[in-house]
Amino acid sequence: MKQINQYLDSVFTEQDDLLEEVLVLIEEHGMPSISVSASSGKLLTMLISMSGAKHVLEIGALGGYSGICLARGFGSEGTLTSLELEEKHADLAYGNLTKAGFGDQVSYRTGPALESLEKLADEKKTFDFFFIDADKDNYENYLNYCVKLAEPGALIVADNVLAGGSVIDSETKPKRYTDFMKKFNQTVANHPQLQSMLIPIGDGLTVSRVK
Ligand SMILES: C[S@@+](CC[C@H](N)C(=O)[O-])C[C@H]1O[C@@H](n2cnc3c(N)ncnc32)[C@H](O)[C@@H]1O
Repeated sequence: MKQINQYLDSVFTEQDDLLEEVLVLIEEHGMPSISVSASSGKLLTMLISMSGAKHVLEIGALGGYSGICLARGFGSEGTLTSLELEEKHADLAYGNLTKAGFGDQVSYRTGPALESLEKLADEKKTFDFFFIDADKDNYENYLNYCVKLAEPGALIVADNVLAGGSVIDSETKPKRYTDFMKKFNQTVANHPQLQSMLIPIGDGLTVSRVK
C-alpha cells in the first residue's frame, strides 16, 4: 500500500506550494500530521468538479488541507461548510482557506460534529457532497446524517476506510478503529440508499452515491 501510494503521489500529483505550506503550518502548530494524502486530495477535487457539486459538507477540518482540495473542485461558485471539534484547528483551516482564495465561501462550525449535524438538520440544510474524516467511532452516525442531509445524487466520501490495510490483512497490526471501519465498509456497501465503491488510495476512500 505504501509503495503504491508513493507511486501515485509521485506520478499523478504536482508540486503544490500552498498545500506544502499547510502541512508545515500544521506541524508548527503542534497538530497531528493526518491530512489526506496528495493523491486523495486531488481525487476529492476531481470528484467535485466531475459531479458539479456546489454545496459541500466536510466533517473534520484539521488545518484545511482537504478543505482546499474540496474548494478547488467547485472554484468560485460553491460553498464549504466544515465541522470541527477544535477551535484551534478551525482557525488554522480558515486562515489557510483564506490564503487559497476561498475565505468568503467557507464557514466553520466548531464543537462535536454530531451536534452540528443535528443543527444543520433542524435548519433543513442540504448538500450535494460530503467528506467524512473525523473520529472513526462516529463514521456510521455521520453517514446516517449525510444521507439525511443529501440532495438526490449527492456523493458521500469517507477517508481511512482501509485502516492502514488492517481491514483486509489479519497480519497487519489492527488499529483502534479497525473494527469500526470493517463495519462501516459493510454498511456503505449494502446500504439500500447508496451505491458505493472503495478506492484504495491514501488510507482508502469509500465513494457513495445517494440514490
Ligand atoms: C484526520 S483529521 C482531518 C483531516 C482533514 N480532513 C484533512 O485531510 O485536511 C480529523 C479532524 O477531526 C476532528 N475531530 C475529531 N473528533 C471530532 C468530533 N467529534 N467532531 C468534529 N471534529 C472532530 C479533529 O479535531 C481533527 O481536526
